[in-house]
Amino acid sequence: MKILVATEKPFAPVAVKLIREVTEAAGHEIALLENYKDVTELLAAVSDADALIVRSDLVTARILDAAKKLQIVVRAGAGYDNLDLQACTARNVIAMNTPGQNSNAVAELAFEMMLFQARGGFTGKSGTELRDKTLGLHAFGNVGKYVAEIGKGFGMDVYAYDPYVDGKVINEFGIKACNKPEDLYSTCQYVSLHMPANDKTKKSIGYDLLNRMPKNAVLVNTARKEVINEEDLLRIFEMRPDFKYLSDVEPDCKAVFEEKHQGRFVFTAKKMGAQTAEANINAGVAAANQIVDYFKTGNEKYRVNK
Ligand code: 3PG
Repeated sequence: MKILVATEKPFAPVAVKLIREVTEAAGHEIALLENYKDVTELLAAVSDADALIVRSDLVTARILDAAKKLQIVVRAGAGYDNLDLQACTARNVIAMNTPGQNSNAVAELAFEMMLFQARGGFTGKSGTELRDKTLGLHAFGNVGKYVAEIGKGFGMDVYAYDPYVDGKVINEFGIKACNKPEDLYSTCQYVSLHMPANDKTKKSIGYDLLNRMPKNAVLVNTARKEVINEEDLLRIFEMRPDFKYLSDVEPDCKAVFEEKHQGRFVFTAKKMGAQTAEANINAGVAAANQIVDYFKTGNEKYRVNK
């Protein structure tokens, strides 16, 4: 079988080497399309692929139509909002993700951005500390759990809200559970977002939640820019000079932040959360193993389309 690794944002070379070893040891052929600049390159590369490994690369109906032999696509990562699941199902293509494999890297980035902001961007200005500050985790999946651990290590007072996780499970991690998102935002100076982008969550973080946050509020977004209602966020920024926003990727309204709110935001130019050698190895090798296993045994454990 031919397995195409198509990554507009490449994996670390060590991860590619290990993906190659896993796939070739199982008797499969590997093709690489890294750093591509145009979708036409992906359209051409998928034409003879039996399996596809991607990161945040968009797998649309158009890509799937060009991938005539494709049986399985694995998103090497957690969020699969870049895969058109309906189009996969309609073409009998199995779609999977690799949950948990890059979570620690994302959790560390959330803290790196918080520290960078708290210390004034390392410019020599006097900053603030994280100890004894309140930290709210909006969603308590794999990333949220790592952030909770780090937050406790920093001596923060950690809370979490997740509509799909029982409060008792949250308490077992040694942190406090909130019953409603409103309580989380009213309580926590730092709120870190860890939900997927889907129909329920897109634009769900808006004025009503954000304006509840205490003085010197910091919103940390290593989830997806789409979960933020950017108009509402800009309104909050106008009203509250104490409010800060740290985001792993630039928001659509970046130009307004740059023009009006210098010093109150940190944006990565390219999504950096999972951009570590360790996360690349974990997620990339997991994706390769899932494909090898699927071709060998039919295992669909991490399938996300039905
Ligand atoms: C994920 O959903 O796993 C992360 O957002 C990582 O995305 P990336 O593979 O594009 O870095």
